[in-house]
Amino acid sequence: MKKVQFTETILRDANQSLVATRLGYDQFEPILDEIDRAGFYSVECWGGATFDVCLRFLHEDPWERLRKIRKKLPNTKLQMLLRGQNLLGYKPYPDDVVRRFVRAAVKNGIDIVRTFDALNDTRNLKVAIEETVKAGAMASGAISYTTSPVHTLDKYVAQAKEMAQMGVGSICIKDMAGILSPKDAYDLVAAIKDAVDLPLVVHTHSTTGLAFMTYMKAVEAGADVIDTAISPFSGGTSQPATETLNYALRELGYETGLNDDALLKMANFFKPIRADFLSDGTLNPISMATDTQCLNYQIPGGMLSNLLSQMKMLNALDKYEDALLETPRVRADMGYPPLVTPTSQLIGTQAVQNVMAGERYKNVGAEMRAYCRGEYGQTPAPIDPEIRAKILKGEQPIEGRFADTLPKDSFEKAKAQLGDTARCDEDVLSYISFPEVAEKFFAERKAAEEKVVRYSITQL
Ligand code: CO
Repeated sequence: MKKVQFTETILRDANQSLVATRLGYDQFEPILDEIDRAGFYSVECWGGATFDVCLRFLHEDPWERLRKIRKKLPNTKLQMLLRGQNLLGYKPYPDDVVRRFVRAAVKNGIDIVRTFDALNDTRNLKVAIEETVKAGAMASGAISYTTSPVHTLDKYVAQAKEMAQMGVGSICIKDMAGILSPKDAYDLVAAIKDAVDLPLVVHTHSTTGLAFMTYMKAVEAGADVIDTAISPFSGGTSQPATETLNYALRELGYETGLNDDALLKMANFFKPIRADFLSDGTLNPISMATDTQCLNYQIPGGMLSNLLSQMKMLNALDKYEDALLETPRVRADMGYPPLVTPTSQLIGTQAVQNVMAGERYKNVGAEMRAYCRGEYGQTPAPIDPEIRAKILKGEQPIEGRFADTLPKDSFEKAKAQLGDTARCDEDVLSYISFPEVAEKFFAERKAAEEKVVRYSITQL
C-alpha cells in the first residue's frame, strides 16, 4: 500500500502564522495526550518564533516548555525549526554557540532538527547538521523555496545532494510563502527523489490557496511526509487542514497512519481556543483568508501583514502600495534571497526605508550593511555592485564563511558574565539568543519565586 505521513504544526507554525505564536503551554497541555495518540510522523512544537515569544511575551521558559511536551508525548517524534547558523534569532551566531544550542535542544527532548538557511548557503547549515547527528537526533535539511531568475530546479537538487552528504536523515522543501505550485512541486519532488535516497518532506502554507493541490501533486511525485495543521488552526497563512488531507489521501489509497478519533478530539479542543483568539483580536480573520497577492509580489503572507503594520506605525499608509512594489525590487538588488527570517525582515525594512526617504538606500540599517558585507552568507545572485558600494562606503566585503571570523569561546564568556543569574546552560543559551529579553525574564522569574515564598510564609 502507498504510504504518506503527516507532521502536525499546530504547536509551532500554525500557532506562529495565525496567532503570532501566542499559544501558551497551559492552553494546549490538556490535548497533548490525544496529539500523542494521533499517529503523526512528527509534531513540530519548538523553534522558529516560539522561543523568542515564550521569553518575551508568555513569561515561559522555552526549555521548560520543551521538557513538558517531551514528557506528554512519549510516543511521538518532536520536531523543531532551526534557522541554521542564525539559530532562533536574527543574526549569525558563533559555532560554539550553535553546537551548544543544538545539543541542548536534543538533550531536552527534540528528535528532529529541521534546519534551513535563509540564503540556502550550505556553509550555514554544516555545523548545525553535524552537531544534530552527533547528538543522536535526526537532521532534516530544508531548502528555502523561492522563485527567481536564478533559482532553478538543478540548483535545488544540487542542494539536496549536498545536504545528503552532510548527513541529514531527510530533505524538506520549505515553502514559507505558499507559492509552490502543484506543477513545480511535482517536478521538484520527482527530481529530488530521483537524485537522493532519503525521505522527502514538503512544507507549504495555504496563503495563496495552492496548498491542497500542491500537496496532492507532491504526494503523487513521491513525497513521504506533508506538513498540515489541525483544522481550527488551518488555512490562510497557516498549513492546510490535517483532517482534510487525511480524508482525501486515504480515499485515494494512501495509508496515513492517522487516528481519526484523536484528530476529532484535537479539532474539538482547538475550536473554542480559536474563538477566544478571534474575539480578543490576536487572530485576524484576514490571515485565514486566501490572498493571491503573494503570487504577484512573491512576498510571504507574514511579511505583507508586517509591512502593513510598519506603514501604519509610520503614519504612511498612503505609501503602502509603493512599499509593496519596492519589496521585490530590493530583493532583486540584494541577489534574490528567499524571503524568510531573517532576510524577510531585512528586505522588508529596507523597502520601507527606501519609500519613506524618497531616495533608495539613503538610510540603511546595521543589519543590511552586515548582509552586504557577506555576514549572512553568499547570496543566490550577486548583490547589485553599485548599490553595494553605496551601502558599504568603502568597507570591504568579507571573504569566506562569516562564523569562521567569530570568537570560539562565546558560550563560556557569556556564562562567566552571567554568573549566578544563569541557573543552567540553557539559561546561558537563552541569554546569548536574546540578551535583554532573557535578562528581563530571569528577573521576573526570580521576583515571581520570591512572591511565592512570601506567600507561603504568610500562610504559615
Ligand atoms: Co512555515
